This record gives sequence, structure tokens and C-alpha cells, in this order.
Amino acid sequence: MEKSKIKAVVFDLDGVVTDTAEFHYIAWKNLANRIGIDFDRTFNENLKGISRMESLELILEQGDMAERFSPAEKVALATEKNDEYVALINDITPADILPGILDFLQELKDHGIKTAIASASKNAPAIVEKLEIRHFFDYIADVGAIPNPKPAPDIFLVSAAHLGAHPSECVGIEDAAAGVEAIKAAHMMAVGIGEVEQLGGADLILDGTAELSLNEISNAFLEFKNGESA
Ligand code: BG6
Ligand code: MG
Repeated sequence: MEKSKIKAVVFDLDGVVTDTAEFHYIAWKNLANRIGIDFDRTFNENLKGISRMESLELILEQGDMAERFSPAEKVALATEKNDEYVALINDITPADILPGILDFLQELKDHGIKTAIASASKNAPAIVEKLEIRHFFDYIADVGAIPNPKPAPDIFLVSAAHLGAHPSECVGIEDAAAGVEAIKAAHMMAVGIGEVEQLGGADLILDGTAELSLNEISNAFLEFKNGESA
């Protein structure tokens, strides 16, 4: 039986394939606190999927410090955060792959479904290498070459094009509101990993990656297609 007409699955990395979202949180919190800005997990949700410099701007704005630093000082602050982040990810291993992801990737491969990573992180290629999963992906988007960041659809559209798939044949998987928005703007089916409060725009919301399976997303994909043609 044809399980699905899904041709490609495009994955976010941080918080979907591995829990690096927690390391981003720790590094931003330490930087924010050092310069006297409160930082909690609720505010951190706004930064998921957002680029390094944009994240810094949002943190400074929320601390009423947007005007306090010169462009060069802002680059130095972002570098300080990244240095801590890089130190935190230094020790990650395949054991840090989130539950269910390896089985799901193998299932996709077995069914000839193409895969890509569409991450806003410049550290994404290094993380994929450390997790020893490069061979599972047909394409890793180069965020430096993507015109507009999430929530714009660009990174998902570029990934689909590289996989030879039309967006309507693709599923995107994200843990961030900006990411789900980007997937929807690309006119793909969106799977959100996390809570409905943040990811309400997704077509399918799962509590965690352990729930990912080809069967689960294929059923949702059929419903999505039926809903679109209704
Ligand atoms: C995204 C994360 O994947 O990458 C964001 O969700 C992060 O939190 C962004 O800011 C950029 O990452 P990096 O590693 O280039 O600073
Ligand atoms: Mg993410």
C-alpha cells in the first residue's frame, strides 16, 4: 500500500533533531543577565528559530538597552553568546539525538523520502557532524545564503527546491513559532513539536519527537490535503 504521497521532509535542527535549544537558552540567559537584563523561558520562546543578531536585538529591546551599544559592541555581545554556545555543544554525541528521530529518519530513507535540514543556525553543519547523521540528509541549507530569515518561507522553499520537491509534496517539522510560520508561508504541511500555545498554526502538533512516524505524518498529510481541496 502506498503509505503517503509525501516526497520530502524538511527538518529544523535545534529542538527537533537534538536539544540544542536548551544550550541556546543557557547561553542567551547568561549573556542577558551579565548585562543586567532579566531572561526567562517564556521570553526565550520568542528567540527560537530567530537568527543570532535578531535574537540579541530582541533581548536588548526587552531590557530597554537597544540604543546602549554600538554595532561593533553588539557583534561582540553576539560573539560572546556564541562562544559559550559552541563550548556547550562541544561535547554533544549521537546520544543527544532526540527520541525517535533516528528511527524516523531510517523510515524516511527506507521509503525513498528525501530529507533536508533547514536551520537558522550557522552551527548547524557542525552539530549534524557531531551527531553522526549527515548521511541521513540529502541537503543541509546554508543559512548564510538564504535571503530572508524565518518566519519568511525562504529556507523551506530553497530546501524543497534542492530536494526536487514541490512545497505541496513536503512536510516541515519545527519546534518554534517562527518556524511553523515559515513552513506555512511556504505552503507546506507543518508539524509542530511542542505546545499548542506556541505552535497553534501547525497542521499537526506532537508533544515530542518520539511520536514522529511515517504513519502519523502520512495520515495527517492526507487530512491536510483533503482539507485543502475541500
Ligand atoms: C536557531 C535557533 O535554530 O538558530 C535560535 O532556534 C538561534 O535559537 C539560531 O539563535 C541561530 O543560531 P546560531 O548558532 O547561528 O547562533
Ligand atoms: Mg528549533
